[in-house]
Amino acid sequence: MTIPVQSDAFTPRHILVAGGAGFIGSAFVRSSLARYPEVKITVLDKLTYAGNLDNLAPIAHQQGYRFVRGDITRPDDVTAALDGCDALVNFAAETHVDRSILDAGAFVSTDVYGSYVLLEAVKTLGVARALFVSTDEVYGDVEHGASVESDPFAPRSPYAASKAGGEMLIRSYYITHGLPVLVTRGSNTYGPYHYPEKLIPLMTTNALDGLPLPVYGDGRQRRDWLHVDDHAAGIDAVLRRGALGEAYNLGGGAERENIDVVTAILDAVGKPRSLMTYVQDRAGHDRRYALDSSKARALGWAPLHPFEQGLRETVEWYRTHQEWWRPLKSGEYAAYYATQYAERLTKA
Ligand code: NAD
Ligand code: TYD
Repeated sequence: MTIPVQSDAFTPRHILVAGGAGFIGSAFVRSSLARYPEVKITVLDKLTYAGNLDNLAPIAHQQGYRFVRGDITRPDDVTAALDGCDALVNFAAETHVDRSILDAGAFVSTDVYGSYVLLEAVKTLGVARALFVSTDEVYGDVEHGASVESDPFAPRSPYAASKAGGEMLIRSYYITHGLPVLVTRGSNTYGPYHYPEKLIPLMTTNALDGLPLPVYGDGRQRRDWLHVDDHAAGIDAVLRRGALGEAYNLGGGAERENIDVVTAILDAVGKPRSLMTYVQDRAGHDRRYALDSSKARALGWAPLHPFEQGLRETVEWYRTHQEWWRPLKSGEYAAYYATQYAERLTKA
């Protein structure tokens, strides 16, 4: 099947950023308002455990910015927020693999059904361009080489399967209804304002507190690390210059084994390597992800942050912004941490 490709440059006037109070979405909002003072941004976010208005505090009073609390699985919330926007960028998702293993329901709801609700609203309101942020995890475990956008999906966790399901719907709305959609598939992202359940912020905050750093399995799994500002810049490039109906890989080009990342964090914090604690592996743990990002690079995008420097700066950000993450580590997080790690750490 031949799919028509349109690659006209696009300048958004008013973007609805769904999930804009999360890690990458808030970086996209902060950088877009700094780079394009004329653009208007409305953030639609449910403020789940991962959503945090503190992430948007630096731009909260900026002209052209507005926050709406709402849920992408609720058509009325989406239609009301999207009205008057000419572009949608969707970051809203359940995003943590370990939580998807404990309970996948919210993943199917937000990542699949939520995508459907957004697509319907884009169709009804005639939005000019809609970019859906996806992940390299839809390709599954990549033993050798690097994934290209035409590779088949082979998701292996409920999180990855839900993202792949959402993507299938997005593609179907392009082919069936001619919707002006784009997809980005980013690699593992790191940087400031990252909820401390994921590898780098979890290990950094534990190291700062002198707590054990729980490494799954043999720790030799590999991820391709992308700085959050590079990820946001890649999404912006695809939104403005991408071809409709196409997907674009956004890889950091910094493939590292988990144990090397954890060791670098301990060294940066100045804590002993003996804090690294091998624990029971994650079920269905993907060993490696790797992306070929030539297609996005042809749009003029490239990651600019060297990993070792970006990691040191990120660790320093967590050291100097404890007022941001300490409140997050109580309550919901403490309960999740106990479920996910208490037994693992006892048996280690
Ligand atoms: P995050 O978990 O930090 O933030 C998700 C945001 O979505 C939160 O603000 C949350 O409140 C909001 N949200 C969740 N369910 C919602 C709903 N039903 N309605 C409205 N808002 C809702 O996520 P992130 O790490 O910033 O990831 C953003 C996107 O990028 C996701 O689609 C994810 O799949 C993708 N991605 C993430 C990474 C990564 O390493 N973090 C890598 C590649 C792709
Ligand atoms: P994570 O940050 O959860 O991202 P993803 O699973 O989406 O790639 O995990 C990155 C890698 O780090 C992955 O191989 C799992 C591993 N990991 C640990 O070893 N220990 C941990 O406590 C966490 C959260 C992750």
